[in-house]
Amino acid sequence: MRAGPAGPERPAGAGLYLHVPFCRHRCGYCDFNTYAGLDEQIPRYVAALRADLVRVAAGGPRAVAPPGSGAGPAWPVFTSVFVGGGTPTLLPAADLAGLVRLAGQVLPVADDAEVTVEANPETVTVDSLAVLAGAGINRVSIGAQSFAPRVLAFLDRRHDPRAPLRAVEAARAAGIARVSLDLVYGAPAEDDADWRDALDAAVGAGVGHVSAYALTLEPGTPYARRVRAGVQAAPDDDVQAVRMRVADERLAAGGLERYEISNWARPGSRCRHNLTYWTGGDYLGVGAGAHGHWAGRRWWSLRSPSRYADAALAGDRTTAGDEVLDAATRRTERLMMGLRLSDGVPRERVVPVDEDQVRLLLGAGLLDDDGTRLRLPPRARPLAGDVTARLAVCP
Ligand SMILES: C[S@@+](CC[C@H](N)C(=O)[O-])C[C@H]1O[C@@H](n2cnc3c(N)ncnc32)[C@H](O)[C@@H]1O
Repeated sequence: MRAGPAGPERPAGAGLYLHVPFCRHRCGYCDFNTYAGLDEQIPRYVAALRADLVRVAAGGPRAVAPPGSGAGPAWPVFTSVFVGGGTPTLLPAADLAGLVRLAGQVLPVADDAEVTVEANPETVTVDSLAVLAGAGINRVSIGAQSFAPRVLAFLDRRHDPRAPLRAVEAARAAGIARVSLDLVYGAPAEDDADWRDALDAAVGAGVGHVSAYALTLEPGTPYARRVRAGVQAAPDDDVQAVRMRVADERLAAGGLERYEISNWARPGSRCRHNLTYWTGGDYLGVGAGAHGHWAGRRWWSLRSPSRYADAALAGDRTTAGDEVLDAATRRTERLMMGLRLSDGVPRERVVPVDEDQVRLLLGAGLLDDDGTRLRLPPRARPLAGDVTARLAVCP
């Protein structure tokens, strides 16, 4: 591993995302590219992921950048690795550790890179996490979702309400200092007290980072089918707006600062990997259905784990599709993602913007502009999409 730039809140560098598309069971609300009941495919998939990682790394940036982008032959330093899913911690810990070690051998991963593994609470122990820590994994993102039994049941979660807290303790005992908890709010089974309890539990656990997402109804999921059949209710927008405000108040009171619409962190604990996404940075995505972005080219891999493994093990490209973004689209995307951040977006990254709209939005109190950065004031955060659409200049 190589040295990277210092400082906990430094600008994000290049990132590496590795996808593990297996879960013990599917939660009813989830439409991520993940599968239950395919555990027998895990060893072959791990071999494929390793082969694909080696192939992508050997190709260098010129193989992933758009033609004419001026990309050099050498990779820049990678400041983050994120193993997501699915449930990466369904893999044997030695396999997960081996993947992360391999990344550091084939890519210039910084010595102080943020290396995160997503985990379901019931799939980790002090021993398994110690194996991960030994391979340089220094951050765990635990899917708690809720601490209320009836909400967990509504969401089809199988872990007991205290399992996320045990997982946090296990991470600490294994020497993994940086822990994040994922929470979901606004499930119809949840009441105000359930949500306050979840926030207080996250703060009480002393974690440095919390992601809190409004439950969304994703087409094609079991949850969407149950709503259509009248068996379960859909989330209520007004309730979710109130819950989001409560999250902001309670997490801020607990010392966590909101730095993105759905993310809160203690000082020094912002997620560097996600900051790479939100600031329009470059990242490789390796694994079934993984997305990558490099210098304005975006690509995505074969979604089916078995087809992905067939291609990777044959030494073939695993890419299912790609697109090269034009300058105006890149600017609009940077604006859209940058306005989700409390720090906003540097003007130089998004100009030209519609200056008439800037004046109108400033007058309406829906935008801040200090001459170098554009930001959304807190009351305009729910309107990030509308503000982006007004500011964007199309060619
Ligand atoms: C795909 S999961 C992977 C993590 C892990 N397998 C777990 O379930 O805890 C990543 C996160 O996405 C969020 N998520 C997935 N589907 C969602 C939905 N429909 N609405 C809101 N959040 C969702 C959850 O908070 C979850 O922790």
